[in-house]
Formats: sequence, structure tokens, C-alpha cells
Amino acid sequence: MATLQLLQSSVLAKGGHFSFSARKQPPWPWRGGVRMGLREDGPSVAVVGVTGAVGQEFLRVLSDRDFPYHSIKMLASARSAGKPLSFEGREYLIEELKESSFEGVDIALFSAGGSISKKFGPIAVHLGSVVVDNSSAFRMDEGVPLVIPEVNPEAMAHIKLGSGKGALIANPNCSTIICLMAATPLHRHAKVLRMVVSTYQAASGAGAAAMEELEQQTREVLEGKKPTCKIFNQQYAFNLFSHNAPIVSNGYNEEEMKLVKETRKIWNDPNVRVTATCIRVPVMRAHAESVNLQFEKPLDEDTAREILKNAAGVVVIDDRSSNRFPTPLEVSSKDDVAVGRIRSDLSQTGNHGLDIFICGDQIRKGAALNAIQIAEKLL
Ligand SMILES: NC(=O)c1ccc[n+]([C@@H]2O[C@H](COP(=O)([O-])OP(=O)(O)OC[C@H]3O[C@@H](n4cnc5c(N)ncnc54)[C@H](OP(=O)(O)O)[C@@H]3O)[C@@H](O)[C@H]2O)c1
Repeated sequence: MATLQLLQSSVLAKGGHFSFSARKQPPWPWRGGVRMGLREDGPSVAVVGVTGAVGQEFLRVLSDRDFPYHSIKMLASARSAGKPLSFEGREYLIEELKESSFEGVDIALFSAGGSISKKFGPIAVHLGSVVVDNSSAFRMDEGVPLVIPEVNPEAMAHIKLGSGKGALIANPNCSTIICLMAATPLHRHAKVLRMVVSTYQAASGAGAAAMEELEQQTREVLEGKKPTCKIFNQQYAFNLFSHNAPIVSNGYNEEEMKLVKETRKIWNDPNVRVTATCIRVPVMRAHAESVNLQFEKPLDEDTAREILKNAAGVVVIDDRSSNRFPTPLEVSSKDDVAVGRIRSDLSQTGNHGLDIFICGDQIRKGAALNAIQIAEKLL
């Protein structure tokens, strides 16, 4: 039942009113007489898709990190327009996303799906906003940086806030971010030639409605009823299945191909060989990934463990004696990606291979946190 509790504590307020209780204790948001968050000299921010799983997490992360803002616009569809939303002790009304929404907006955080990004992203850029986009709409476009701040911050170094010029920055796919948070420090040391990724992806990766469907199905199955399948076309509770992304002509699905293509772009290495199998598992929140790496230079498992222990945004949970390794529950709502099962791949010779198991909260580091870290680099 832990997953159900997690859902209740982490997702949308029901009944039309959205509320964010501060995790921090008073005197937050006042600190030393200075109000954090809302600040005259902060940028004007817009959150597009604010009612969604990622949009809600945007607000939590903005609060948690005391992100400075002069004003903040809460944008969603016409369905949500006019609903009240409390954020950092202030009341807002959710506004319908329109072409004029971005006038005077410095930073626009987008998480309302690819078609919304495609339509409104360029409009926001034209009006001078720097758009940080969570969808896949622009990720592979030449000239659009695809950024994990711990991995390739240099890709966005030319984009400046207040220059009067708008710009697009893409947030990578959540599975790619989680994988590369752990694989990159090892890649820097020994150069990855080939990477084999198997994912175990949570319901939250498919949005708030998918989380609700998993909860509902779990209840229905336990009550002996036929599970309701609206988001996914098959039973999800007490089951697992191949990722619901469409299959492309080579037999991979789109989620798998994102891991392949985005890794090459982020590492700026068109030759790295990547293959992936992506699976949905009935976990409410946070993805897991088994990753096999083949290196150009030898890398033994003790050195790899030390590298990972010192990597920014990574924690090592690798206790062989008590069989304790990362779990999705343990990383839920956490910033860091957890790595364990660090072992030399015995199918390869001379310490040229390594197996690792990674868990990361894909709504947080895989989406909202990564995007806000990008926005912080603009300040
Ligand atoms: N979930 C993840 O872990 C994750 C990770 C990385 C990237 N992403 C990407 O982030 C985006 C959002 O994902 P999500 O999981 O947060 O989805 P979600 O929970 O389904 O939320 C979708 C959001 O988009 C808004 N929206 C839908 N149609 C709209 C319209 N016509 N105009 C304005 N707003 C509209 C919704 O507003 P209403 O409530 O008003 O309908 C809602 O706020 C997707 O592109 C997804 O691929 C998600």
C-alpha cells in the first residue's frame, strides 16, 4: 500500500483547488527579513502545464530551491482556467494558455506535451522568453541545446537572460537523464563504447492520469473487478509491459530510440553504440534502469564506485552484505539518482565492462528539477 500513500502525498489536489504546503518550516519563505522566491530583481516566470504531474513538481522544486521570481504565471488548458492555486502563501488563478501569455515572460517552463510546445514554444521565443521544454518536440533540432546541467552545461553557455533574445533549451527524456547521470562520470574516465539499457518505468512517466489509473486498477483487481483501461490499453496493476510509446520501423519504440539518439547528442559522440529495451512496471513514481557498459579503457569496479560516490547528483547504495541496493521508493521525491549493483561484467575481459543499476525520480531529476537547474544557469 506504500505506493497508494505515495500517490496521495505527491500528486494533484482533487476538487479543483491546487495547494502547495511548504516543506520548509517557518520562517520560510521569509529568511532574515528577506522574502525568498518572490523578488523584485527575479525573472518573470511562466509554468505551462501547471496542473500536470511535471507542472506540479515544477512548483515544488521552485519552492524547494528558493528560485527567485518577480512574477509567476500559472498556465494550463481551458479546462483548468479560472481554478485557484495556492503557491508560496499566495493565491493565483490558473490561466488558459494563449499566444499572448508570454508577453513580459523571461523564463517559460513548458510541460504540456509535444504539440503544445511545437505551437507555443516558438511564439514564446519570438516574444523574448527563454523556453525550457520538457517535451521531445525540439530535442534533436540542431541549434537547440539538450542539457543535463551536471553533464553538458557548456551546450547552453551562449544563451543569456535579459539579452532581449528568446531561445529554446530542451530537457532530455527522463530515462536518458537518469541513465546519463550515472554513466557520464564513468564515460569521462574510461570512454563508453557501447551501452545496453533496460528500463523499469513508473506510471508517473505517463502523467497524472496514468498514476490515477494504476491506483484505480490496483483497487479494482484487489476487489475482484475488471480493471479500467483508459490510458494504457492493457492491465497495468500486477503486470508489466513493453513501453507504450509507438514502435518505429526498426522495431524499437520511440522511448528506446530517445535513449539512443539523445545520448549521442548530449555526449557529442555520434559513434557511441546504444541499445535499449523500455518496460513499464506498476510502480507509482521513479524509474529504474539496468545499464551495461563497455569501455575503451579498463575500469575496475572499485574505481567505478569511487567515481560514482564523488559524482554530483549521484548517491551510491551498494551494500552487498545486506543485499541493499537502490529502489524506486527510496528515490521518490529525491533530487539525487541512486546507483548500485556496481560490478565488473564477467562476460568481458580486462575490466572493460561494468553492470550498474540506477533509480531516479523521473518527475523530479528526469523532468522538473533538471529544467529548473537549467533555468538557474540562466540567472
Ligand atoms: N511525467 C514525466 O515523468 C515526464 C518526464 C519528462 C518529460 N515529461 C513531459 O512533460 C510533458 C507533460 O507531462 P506530464 O506527465 O506532466 O503530463 P500530465 O500530467 O498529463 O499534464 C499535462 C499538462 O498539460 C496541460 N495541457 C494539456 N492540454 C493543454 C492545452 N491545450 N493547453 C494548455 N495546457 C494543456 C494540462 O492542463 P489541464 O490540466 O488543464 O488539462 C496539464 O497541466 C509531456 O510532454 C511529457 O512527455 C513528462
